[in-house]
Amino acid sequence: MSRIKPNLSVNVGGILMKNPVTTASGTFGFGPEYAPYLYLNRLGAIVVKGITLLPRTGNPTPRLAETPAGILNSIGLQNPGVERFISEALPFLANYDLPVIVNIAGDTVDDYALLAGKLSRAPGVAGLEVNISCPNVKKGGMQFGSDPAMAAEVTRAVKASTGLPVIVKLSPNVTSIVAVAEKVAEAGADALSMINTVLGMAIDIKKKRPVLGNVLGGLSGPAVKPVAVRVVWQVYQAVKLPIIGMGGITTAEDAIEFFLAGATAVAVGTANFINPRATMDVLKGIENYLHENGINEISELTGLAQKT
Ligand SMILES: Cc1cc2nc3c(=O)[nH]c(=O)nc-3n(C[C@H](O)[C@H](O)[C@H](O)COP(=O)(O)O)c2cc1C
Repeated sequence: MSRIKPNLSVNVGGILMKNPVTTASGTFGFGPEYAPYLYLNRLGAIVVKGITLLPRTGNPTPRLAETPAGILNSIGLQNPGVERFISEALPFLANYDLPVIVNIAGDTVDDYALLAGKLSRAPGVAGLEVNISCPNVKKGGMQFGSDPAMAAEVTRAVKASTGLPVIVKLSPNVTSIVAVAEKVAEAGADALSMINTVLGMAIDIKKKRPVLGNVLGGLSGPAVKPVAVRVVWQVYQAVKLPIIGMGGITTAEDAIEFFLAGATAVAVGTANFINPRATMDVLKGIENYLHENGINEISELTGLAQKT
């Protein structure tokens, strides 16, 4: 008996993806690092490492610490800056047929607007993911994401500077993520992604000092998945925007939880460090799940657990 191939394509706020699996910013570099392990064209989209106006060297080392069910990082947005990103990283990605989503971060609202303008004029950018949720930088970052009014201001400024789809990446380190999501939606965001890392820390009991050079860091990996699924569930009920769900996705089963909670697409992050082909395994497993459950369209899964 021939099997009908399920339709995996999704539309995330105007970004057309042939399948719903993308990469989480900062865990997949700009692509070349993973090209030996998988055919990049098979990804639904690539979300690249966070870009700032000027190059950044990041925070003091150590910047990574393992925990029992995830990692703490305090990279601090190390990146080559927007000009080098455009001249060096984008031409490589232009060889592939997949939407390139650029994650942007800044110290001020103007930084975000300037970045959005520059990237809109660069060839080969399909959309922007606005990082207002990085816990590892002194200025900007999570400050913008914690205050609904500031989050809305950044969103409005980016929208005014670009015609590209704008995805706003939210922080779980707030009392009400729904309040932030609602303001960001009102300000014109085309989609949301969540979650960024959960603020945490670890202490070295031999040295009696914090492990990370920056003291605090962002927790990611399997430990954060229940928090991420919870916020996708809550925000899906409140805001009618497509959601890219992420946080601890290691297997297809993890990804399916996010779809059922309300995600339209998913991003694989920390799992790439353990298994560079994690995105491919997740994609294959989603396809199998759709077959096994007689579901023809991935979109039928979105929010299904919410329906009675
Ligand atoms: C080493 C590292 C670097 C990251 N860098 C960024 C970044 O530059 N911009 C951003 O928005 N999120 C960044 N993140 C957050 C991830 O994109 C993702 O939201 C988070 O890790 C949760 O997903 P996961 O549990 O699958 O890793 C980073 C995460 C890690 C582990």
